Amino acid sequence: MPDSAFKVLEILERATGPLSGETISNELGITRSAVWKHINELRMMGYDISSSQKEGYRLAHASNKLLPYEIHKKLQTRFIGKQIRYFENTPSTIGIGKQLCAEGDVEKLNGMVIIAEQQTGGVGRMGRPWVSPSGGIWITIVLKPHVPVDHIFMITMAGSIAVARAIRKEFNLGALIKWPNDIFIGNKKVAGLLLELSAESDLVHHSLLSIGIDVNVPISDFAPELRNQITSISAEVGHEVDRASFLARILKEFESHYLLIESGEYDPIIQEWKSISCTLENRVQIRTLRNSFEGEAVDIDEFGALIIRKDNGKLERVIAGDCSHQ
Ligand code: BTN
Repeated sequence: MPDSAFKVLEILERATGPLSGETISNELGITRSAVWKHINELRMMGYDISSSQKEGYRLAHASNKLLPYEIHKKLQTRFIGKQIRYFENTPSTIGIGKQLCAEGDVEKLNGMVIIAEQQTGGVGRMGRPWVSPSGGIWITIVLKPHVPVDHIFMITMAGSIAVARAIRKEFNLGALIKWPNDIFIGNKKVAGLLLELSAESDLVHHSLLSIGIDVNVPISDFAPELRNQITSISAEVGHEVDRASFLARILKEFESHYLLIESGEYDPIIQEWKSISCTLENRVQIRTLRNSFEGEAVDIDEFGALIIRKDNGKLERVIAGDCSHQ
């Protein structure tokens, strides 16, 4: 998409009434047929631009897509989201992230956000399918973290805090974090996070932080058996919400927490995670690859491991597994 199409868009956004093709072409120093071409490109991207011979062009509705231009208008970060790759439809943003990291210089990709409107092969934790219809936020953030491998889970913690905080601030909903990386509203899941790592001994090549949030997704889009376990932001607030502002807020929240981690300040992250966790002080059932047991979730350590007090009083440290609340 050429920059001049967005210049046309900026002019239409600023205008208080319809503008003729000639006015736009004079302002940008391009031909009227180039203006027409850019108007069509913008329409193809979802911008509702009306035109009449008498009056000219008018932006009727901004796009409700997560287009890079819409995010960048609202973005207040230093590096996260400065580069965006946008897809209408792709199997999974994780696949795109892996491919980019394999082919390119990861230092240069650091902070890039890959966005999909819809995913045809979305994946969740433990390789489970992740339903990703239009209306959600399905993203992968490419990172070149300067964080020791044993503290890498902190990045997921920062992501979970960012999503929960953004939900609280934007929509005034009481979002909580369920260990390891789910976001809940009440007793229903609204978002999940996933961290993939490429590392050699203590050197992290790259990591991919993926976030999936059911934002403007009607409950009827979920399988009937999931409807009492999953919710969406629109279902909670009763109307569709502005995804671009929400995403810009998540990226800002994430960046500030991520920078703390890179400077070795882990404690504020752990404390904040604990303060908005719905897992701690709960009776839980843990299922790991090796075993399954119950107990009370009493703490989380600086490596992201959950500490469980088992019924025999012994403390067990769980670094990975499924956790269900009882
Ligand atoms: C979970 O199981 O809770 C984690 C879900 C992560 C889903 C996101 S959506 C964007 C990215 N692309 C995928 O295919 N999955 C992740």
